[in-house]
Amino acid sequence: MTTTAVAAPQFAFHNGEFVEAGTVRLPPSTQALHYGTGVFEGIRAYARSDGRGLAVFRLREHLERLERSAGTLRIQLPFTPDELIGIVVDLLRRNGSDGDTYIRPLAYKFALEPGTPFGVRLSGVSGQFTINTVRMGSYVPREGLRCKVSSVRRVPSASVPSTAKITGIYANNALAVEDARADGCDDALMLGIDGNLTEASTSNVFVVGRDGSVATPPVTADILPGITRATVIELLAREFGTAVEERPVTPAELADAQEVFTTGTGVEISPVTSIDHRDVGTGRAGAVTARLRDTYDEVVHGRRAAYASWLTPVPPL
Ligand SMILES: Cc1ncc(COP(=O)(O)O)c(C=O)c1O
Repeated sequence: MTTTAVAAPQFAFHNGEFVEAGTVRLPPSTQALHYGTGVFEGIRAYARSDGRGLAVFRLREHLERLERSAGTLRIQLPFTPDELIGIVVDLLRRNGSDGDTYIRPLAYKFALEPGTPFGVRLSGVSGQFTINTVRMGSYVPREGLRCKVSSVRRVPSASVPSTAKITGIYANNALAVEDARADGCDDALMLGIDGNLTEASTSNVFVVGRDGSVATPPVTADILPGITRATVIELLAREFGTAVEERPVTPAELADAQEVFTTGTGVEISPVTSIDHRDVGTGRAGAVTARLRDTYDEVVHGRRAAYASWLTPVPPL
């Protein structure tokens, strides 16, 4: 007798319930599809090195940023960050997640409330909230990224606040990525309208100068203030004794840097090996980037007790 393995259903958390992810349907009238009026987070859970299930990295900080982003678009999240921590842990356990997993909460404008006239707006439009998870390990090649300083400029905060992770704004990032790919590169480095560096398409950027100093654009430079960025600033101070300079970074500094690396939940810590087809430093991951990446890896997998408060445990079922 043969038995056929049946894949366990994957659950999503949708409008207050755990449902099979494949059953979630949205009508074409969904407002966020038309106007980009949604906010989201990208969060990672890592398999702990000690085999005791998963740990979600800086979950509270991500959920608090989600709440702030939602506020920018006048979306009232139906749960507090504390409640959402429990929901995320529950979802991972229901999905039997036992390896590195990406978690994607999404809050979005849904339908015009009675009496709200047709048109683009925020008030008078209801919201919905969904969380999905997907199994996902590291996806950036270990050898690093070839980047292009894109001709597509970053939308300034004066137009759309860059501190909020708003779905519609990612059309800007997608255009920059296409521009970089058309030129044979992996990712785009985006300048602001003042001509200084802002960030990459889904990550923040750090520059190591020839004198060993480390700089990154400040939060006022139209960037998303990344949670990995804050993590790296803290790790560099505590583990390396290096104080990161948060200050404007010019394209000339990028071209002259000893090392450049990007930081983000998705890309983790990735060396930039070339910019506009010219090698950065040796054209390989530099010493600061490599050491930082190893430290980050140890922290997220639970091998550094000093940073245990950054990890939310997800015990195995
Ligand atoms: C545009 C942009 N900048 C920076 C980041 C890095 O943010 P974090 O480190 O919080 O993932 C991301 C990823 O979320 C992003 O999409």
